[in-house]
Amino acid sequence: MILIIPFARTYDRAAFDCGVPSLNDWLKFQAGQKERRGNTRTFLAVESDSNEIVGYYASLAANVELPVREGTSLRGYLQPAIRLARLAVSSNAQGKGIGSLLMRHFFVLALEVADRVGVELIVVDAVDDGARDFYVRQGFSSSEPASLFVAMSISTLRSIGKHV
Ligand SMILES: CC(C)(COP(=O)(O)OP(=O)(O)OC[C@H]1O[C@@H](n2cnc3c(N)ncnc32)[C@H](O)[C@@H]1OP(=O)(O)O)[C@@H](O)C(=O)NCCC(=O)NCCS
Repeated sequence: MILIIPFARTYDRAAFDCGVPSLNDWLKFQAGQKERRGNTRTFLAVESDSNEIVGYYASLAANVELPVREGTSLRGYLQPAIRLARLAVSSNAQGKGIGSLLMRHFFVLALEVADRVGVELIVVDAVDDGARDFYVRQGFSSSEPASLFVAMSISTLRSIGKHV
């Protein structure tokens, strides 16, 4: 069974390998420090029998500037957002729904925050085209087809019911 739990140092992070060195290293070398400082909050997907970390995500508060629209007064308007800063599933566990499980956990968290603190958007900078396609399947969209920056409004998240 896969459990999603708040970051804890007791699990073996050194063994985690999602195939993207920067995402492996982030979990090994940065997640703990950033957790301590309150810079990011990380959740781990852990296989309950083996205690192996099979995935993780990290999020943080963000301000996102809207693309400038001609004829509007929205230039420089910053939208309060939650950024999915990191998401990764170990190579041997990919394609089994763990990424989707972590996303659902993040969606619930984002809606809980948005009930208490002003938040308009959830946003992600996808690491590559494949990751962007994954996020688009999850309900995100990009303002330009080639852009790796994808977003979803909290109202869209509520309406598509991804949190249930
Ligand atoms: C992207 C990633 C998190 C997806 O996790 P996963 O557990 O493999 O995804 P799931 O099994 O939940 O797949 C969910 C759906 O997305 C699709 N999908 C998964 N990875 C995809 C990719 N790279 N490109 C396109 N579609 C993808 C699956 O086919 C599946 O589609 P379905 O619902 O129609 O069956 C994982 O592949 C990963 O960690 N990749 C390496 C690191 C990375 O790219 N992280 C994103 C950083 S921004």
